[in-house]
Amino acid sequence: MRNSDIDAVHAIETAVFPSPWSRAMFMEESARENDRVWIVAEAGNELLGYAGIMLVGEDAHIMNLAVRRDARGRGLGSALLSAVIDGAVCRGAVHVTLEVRESNVAAIGLYESAGLHDVGMRPGYYSGGGENAVIMWSDDMNAPGMQARRGQLAARAESVLADFELHDGSELVLGIESSCDETAASVMRGGNELVSSVVASQIVFHSRFGGVVPEIASRKHTEAIVGVIDEALARAGESLGLDGPLPIGDLSAIAVTHGPGLVGALVVGLAYAKGLSLATGVPLVGVNHLEGHIFANMLADPTVEPPLVALLVSGGHTSLVHMPAWGEYHTLGETLDDATGEAFDKVAKVLGLGYPGGPILSTYAADGDPAAIDFPRAMMRSGDYAFSLSGLKTAVINHIRHEREAGREIDIPDLAASFQQAVIDVQVSKSVRAAEECGVKMFCLAGGVAANAALREALREALEAIGVRMSVPPFALCTDNAAMIAAAGTYRFRRGERLGLDAEAVPGLRLG
Ligand code: KG4
Ligand code: ZN
Repeated sequence: MRNSDIDAVHAIETAVFPSPWSRAMFMEESARENDRVWIVAEAGNELLGYAGIMLVGEDAHIMNLAVRRDARGRGLGSALLSAVIDGAVCRGAVHVTLEVRESNVAAIGLYESAGLHDVGMRPGYYSGGGENAVIMWSDDMNAPGMQARRGQLAARAESVLADFELHDGSELVLGIESSCDETAASVMRGGNELVSSVVASQIVFHSRFGGVVPEIASRKHTEAIVGVIDEALARAGESLGLDGPLPIGDLSAIAVTHGPGLVGALVVGLAYAKGLSLATGVPLVGVNHLEGHIFANMLADPTVEPPLVALLVSGGHTSLVHMPAWGEYHTLGETLDDATGEAFDKVAKVLGLGYPGGPILSTYAADGDPAAIDFPRAMMRSGDYAFSLSGLKTAVINHIRHEREAGREIDIPDLAASFQQAVIDVQVSKSVRAAEECGVKMFCLAGGVAANAALREALREALEAIGVRMSVPPFALCTDNAAMIAAAGTYRFRRGERLGLDAEAVPGLRLG
């Protein structure tokens, strides 16, 4: 720890501890070189944690250790602990001691992993509330068992630090997406800065069938994938001011969607990503497509963060997800049959309006009366978060048949508006209840159907009425793309997650 580190150290200290040390105390500590070891952990220009130990004869007393909140859960605490203990042992310390708040179970667990154990209690030790201190103490650090434990801790610390070096906040990650009918590749810097994004849509090849045909999707991905990835690397090179395409070796990771989706489509992106990783040694990271859709919100607006609830509505999915913290997902409920976008597509198909049906029907709906036809609101009062859209779809199709048989002309705007309103009513009602029950202040709308203006507005209004902010990404990030996969992949990469070359596509991959 240098004097120039003290501002950043003090900022972490005040954010983390209820009765923090003052800046002057750190200045005083860093000046004492003979009987102290103070170290900091940095990545790039960011200071992420620090630890200090005091030497008193053969004892070493750990005085302070903290890790910035957003850098936790990646092993930095044990790396810092290992480093200060080794520093003290090098200077002749035999035993390590410390006091820790009784309520700080995470810290107690960390110290236990370094071989310290509980030897007593100091009642009411901490000022401001008088919380008890647990006193911890180690056996002889040079005893064979303790030496082995220190060796293990140091090895783990080394791998943690090597991993941190790879991502100093500006790492380049290539994202690859091929789960449905979009072949996409994107390069992102630091998890939220878009360097390049290329999406090759197959819509024209599926449109005459009125929906995605899996065999066609698979074949089209195979045809497109090489060109799409090359183009993403070429555009990345251009926007980074390089002479040619971004070399794959400059990437910190390759992130690929490994589920959920169509198996024959997923395998194309996954196999290509594995090949790139094997040939270049760049680590491979697997991303859940639905997590990608949620990360599209963070990409568009960095102030979006958990705890939140997300409504994922696309051609393939309809689900409500509770995200209490980064990386944690609880699926509250999902569709029992058709996805929302799929219902729009099928209704449009019956009316002979073309594919995809969502944008077409919502354009008609803008001119229609949402109360013209009373379609069923399925599961509206089911008391859970499950959805069902096939009954509504059948009701609409029966209505169309009935009108045609009766020789009446169908009022497409009224039909579209009434169908759309039935969808919206159920989704808004369940979304509001989910936000209330989970007690969140943030809500994300994601997936292709998030482009539906009426749904956005109804949901925003209902959520604002209960004090919840709604986020929705720009259209290009709502529909399938690889930028969202690279963003979620950067997060997974930073957590040290890797996909092995033996990994398979998981068409039914769950979130969380
Ligand atoms: O997320 P996405 O591009 O692909 C999947 O993962 O499925 O979503 C495509 C779906 C299609 O079913 C399309 O009809 C629907 O999103 N969609 C809409 C609208 N725009 C696209 N649905 C309703 N209203 C819209 N404006
Ligand atoms: Zn999708």
